[in-house]
Amino acid sequence: MSYGKSLPEAMASVLKGNIDGYSISKMSKSDQEFLFGLVSSIKPKNCLEVGVYSGGSSSIILEAIKDIEDSFLIGVDISPKHPYLVDNDIGFVVKDNFPYLSDKYRVHSGKDVSELIDDFGVKFDFALIDTAHMHPCETLNLISILPYMKSDSWIVIHDIGMFYCQDNRIQSRDKFASKYIFDCWQGERLTSEKCEFFTIPNIGAIKVENVEDNLERLISLLFNRWDMEVDDTILDSVRKIIQKHYSVANVEMFDRIIARKKYISALVKKEQNDKKRMVNKVKRYVKSILNL
Ligand SMILES: C[S@@+](CC[C@H](N)C(=O)[O-])C[C@H]1O[C@@H](n2cnc3c(N)ncnc32)[C@H](O)[C@@H]1O
Repeated sequence: MSYGKSLPEAMASVLKGNIDGYSISKMSKSDQEFLFGLVSSIKPKNCLEVGVYSGGSSSIILEAIKDIEDSFLIGVDISPKHPYLVDNDIGFVVKDNFPYLSDKYRVHSGKDVSELIDDFGVKFDFALIDTAHMHPCETLNLISILPYMKSDSWIVIHDIGMFYCQDNRIQSRDKFASKYIFDCWQGERLTSEKCEFFTIPNIGAIKVENVEDNLERLISLLFNRWDMEVDDTILDSVRKIIQKHYSVANVEMFDRIIARKKYISALVKKEQNDKKRMVNKVKRYVKSILNL
């Protein structure tokens, strides 16, 4: 079954635009249509988006649920303001361009989803994860939201093909985070048929099932090399979620991995400092000889 569905023309045209050179939507046309088609077909009421940016994908989800009674979308973005258009709020495109969708939309910016999700007090029928694309960001996002998803609900994961880019842009070489979680998922999965940017699908969806088994696999993914630093406050709030909703064995595995990451990161920092000290020592020595 194909999930692609064309967006209303007015919305497609806004999402094609850019402001000061920054594209409003971070999704290709086929990715937008996959998202719109899937949400239109599953008709969720309680929706969550992690990684909002300008609000392009929020607009698509809201358009798909606008006629469903009591439906809503909660958007969460770690950045307090738009990362590039710093005078703009996260998700500003909805209010500015599609005000008729605003009453179903709430945005929480400046915090990680793990710090917020328990307070929302709902279980979600649908979620989109589209965040840093660097491991372990998406893995931590998915671990955090899983207990708050209804069973058999769907989670869309964007940029699963971003690591594979035809033009070999340097910035994409560490963008494996979405691929990791999509590939490790045991259960029903969907992908778009194509993507204009890459030669492989770049958006997929996973069905929430076999949660304990999948959680174990996700925690194990944290052993893989991390391509970004994660604040201790975020690691603590993810741990609280694991402790509240999953088995003791999973908490212990999480603790073991984090302790090892911290140990390795301390070793790397020490090595870097030792190298710096050695270089400075050599510089001082050469300088002293030259002064002679
Ligand atoms: C690729 S953009 C999202 C694009 C948006 N979904 C769309 O298609 O229009 C990534 C966003 O994720 C946010 N982000 C990065 N790490 C995050 C995290 N751990 N939690 C929530 N948001 C995060 C960034 O601030 C940025 O706004």
